[in-house]
Amino acid sequence: MADSAKNPAEYYPQALNGNGFHGGDHESLRSLVEEEKRRKRIKWAVYIAAFSVFQVMVILVFALVVMKVRSPKFRVGELQIQTLDTNRAAPSFDMRFVAPIRIKNTNFGPYKFDASTVNFTYGGVVVGQAVIPGSKANFKSTKKINVEVSLSSRALSGANSGLEAELSKGVITLGSHGKMNGKVTMMLVMKKKKSAEMNCNMEIEVASRTVKSLECK
Ligand SMILES: *[C@@H]1O[C@H](CO)[C@@H](O)[C@H](O)[C@H]1NC(C)=O
Repeated sequence: MADSAKNPAEYYPQALNGNGFHGGDHESLRSLVEEEKRRKRIKWAVYIAAFSVFQVMVILVFALVVMKVRSPKFRVGELQIQTLDTNRAAPSFDMRFVAPIRIKNTNFGPYKFDASTVNFTYGGVVVGQAVIPGSKANFKSTKKINVEVSLSSRALSGANSGLEAELSKGVITLGSHGKMNGKVTMMLVMKKKKSAEMNCNMEIEVASRTVKSLECK
């Protein structure tokens, strides 16, 4: 440090310059710093913009896929027939079966439903009913409830030519209809009312006491 005390100008040439001769160096240094700052700002702006786009995409996917509340599916599976008595002379039937009721909840939140009734029909006439107790289908799952049902053609009025024809073919065609009301809970707090409808048709083969076909809409 002793040398610098002798001739500071050798070490700090700019320090001698009072008339702006070397001002350009200062300016270029400053603009270099400014340029660097500007570049950094742009870089950050790009990062933030990219992140915002990413966020919007995440929110969109969340809103469209996760938060979308769909109607649960309310179906009946293949009946397990326990007894089936038919009379072809005086067309009639009586049967008892276990109906596997399925409530499929595809939402990302549980579906809590009220008790409801499923009507079993023959030719549009209610021949028996099943009571579905109120319960809950967990998120992305199917609630299975087995209900015992008794049906009788006694509810059909008078002679039923349709039934006579079916019994001679050894078939009974039934319908099952129901509607349940309930609520889907999203994110633990958001509740949305959703109802589910059952509309199924099935053909029962009398001889084997099995379900030949089952179709739900
Ligand atoms: C079931 O039948 C009853 C009459 O017995 C009727 O009031 C009700 O609306 C029916 N429900 C469905 C879902 O068809």
